[in-house]
Parts: sequence; C-alpha cells; structure tokens
Amino acid sequence: MKQHYVMDLIPNEEITEFFIVKRAEVKTGANGKQYFDILLGDKTGEISGKKWDVDAAEEESLSHIKIGDIVRVRGQITEWNGNPQVRIGRIRRASDSDALDMSDYLKAAPESPESMFAYIRGRAEKIKDTDFRMVAVTLLDRNKTRLLYYPAAKSNHHAIFAGLLYHIKRMLMLADRIAEIYTSLDEGLLATGVIIHDIDKLAEMNADENGTVHEYTFEGQMLGHLVMGVRTIDRLAAELGLPNEKAILLEHMMISHHYEAEYGSPKKPLFPEAEALHYLDMLDSKLYDFEDALLPVTPGGFSDWVRTLDSRRLYKVTTELKNDSK
Ligand SMILES: [Fe+2]
Ligand SMILES: [Fe+2]
Repeated sequence: MKQHYVMDLIPNEEITEFFIVKRAEVKTGANGKQYFDILLGDKTGEISGKKWDVDAAEEESLSHIKIGDIVRVRGQITEWNGNPQVRIGRIRRASDSDALDMSDYLKAAPESPESMFAYIRGRAEKIKDTDFRMVAVTLLDRNKTRLLYYPAAKSNHHAIFAGLLYHIKRMLMLADRIAEIYTSLDEGLLATGVIIHDIDKLAEMNADENGTVHEYTFEGQMLGHLVMGVRTIDRLAAELGLPNEKAILLEHMMISHHYEAEYGSPKKPLFPEAEALHYLDMLDSKLYDFEDALLPVTPGGFSDWVRTLDSRRLYKVTTELKNDSK
C-alpha cells in the first residue's frame, strides 16, 4: 500500500516509496561528477529526483532503470526553485514480490476508456454524410485496441492513460455545441475532423499498455502525425472510394490543425471547419493543462511554473468566490 502520494510530499520528509519512472538519465554535473536525474510519478503527479555522486559501478545498475518501470526509492524531500524534489539515497526496481497495485501509479483520464470510446463511436455513427461517417467509423474500429490506452502526448497535454480518447471526446462535445451556434458549419465534417485529427499519434509514438510513451517511432520523428494522417486518409479514401474533394477536405484538416509551420502545419486552415478544428484542439489542450496544473493547488494559491502554458504560475480561484458567483 502506498504511503505517500506525490501530491502530498512535503520538504524534509524522509520517504521509502514506490514511483513510476517517467524519465531517467545519468548526467555529468558542472563539477564533473556524475549524477542520476530521474522524473518520478504516480497517479497524483510528478516529482523530479536526483542521486548525486554516481560512480561507474552504480551507473551500470542505474542504466537498467527505464521509463515505465516501478522503482522503490529511499530518500529525502528537498526543495529546488520552489518545487519539491527527492534527494535519492537508494533506488531499485520493484520486483513481483512488492505486489503493487498499478492503478496507484497511472495517471488516467477520469472516464473509463470503454465509455469514452462508445460515446465517440456513437457520435460517428450519426454523421449524416456517408463518406465522412465511413472514414470516422472505420478509423475508430481499426484503432480501437490502442485508443483504449494511448495518451495524447509523451509529456505535453493529456500525457495520461487513455488521454487521446479523452481529448477527442471533449473536443467532439465542444464541436457539436459550436456547430449549434455557428450554423453555417457542417457538423459532420467538423465531427469527422475532430475524430481523425490525431489518429496517427497512435503510430507516431510507441506507448505501453499503461499509456506511457517510451519513444517516438522512426516515422513519427521523420513525418509526424499530420503527414502520417494524410497518408492514412489517402489510403482509406482509395479503399472506400471516397470522392476526391471530400478526401482533400479531410487531408487539409489534418495538415492544418497545428496552424503554424513551426508546429508542423504546412498550410493554414482554408475553410471554416478546419479553422474551428484548430481552435477546438487548442482550447481542449490548454484547458486540460490548466485543470491538471491546478489540481494539487489549494484555493487561493498558485501552481508551479507550467512550461506548456508559457511558464505561467496559475491561480486557483477560491471556492467561496465560486460559490458566491453562482
Ligand atoms: Fe495534433
Ligand atoms: Fe489534438
């Protein structure tokens, strides 16, 4: 049974605790000595750890610690730049005899993967246009196994178990609401764009069944999920006999959804559904980052620096204020 969750760790505390490894590397410090730099986590958050003065023999054993492993850490909580950190005394990989409950270590989407998949699949079936419906339903069905556990990213937004489905589901709910307001939008085209826009993240990254990304694939590094997605649509369009214009519309939504060339989009959106797709994507990823960073913060306090939100420290509005304004 876990004694300490990351969210509750306080400076000066001595701990002996299990964590999941998010990142691990032996580095050389400014003093020329080697140290072990590790990012540890559990279902409540992440904390960085350092093991100082690593010698050659120790380096060998530390090199066996990999992303996704569960490790047992003995050490002390310290503080660095206002953030808690673990100064590691001893660290080893967990063994079967440690009898761990994996759900303590995995940060997961708050809804069950099956129910999120059923929602998205149900919505896809209601897409009126037969061609768009076929594309959405086919891609969901062919990718169901991996969709049930894949995160949406290695370390950015929705880097959690079933995070990609959670991202798609909330975007889809948003898409249907904005299509009610902006009635000129084609809700079927927009819904299809939402469902397919990140589908090749499944091939861009290698993730294990706990939703931890180990690395980007060769194709992922060379092409990225936008270009890979275009290839997927291209093949599917040929297979399903999609009219050329419809295939191009979907491919355009795919390549333009990151908007800027520096984020991988060679074209900016050229029709309203594509423009809307980009902003739905941004809104969902940004608000997720806000929710995630503010989760451990007590009302009236500030979060740590949030790298994905331009290193802002976010404020958690007091509950009294929220209740008053109702
Ligand atoms: Fe994307
Ligand atoms: Fe996305």
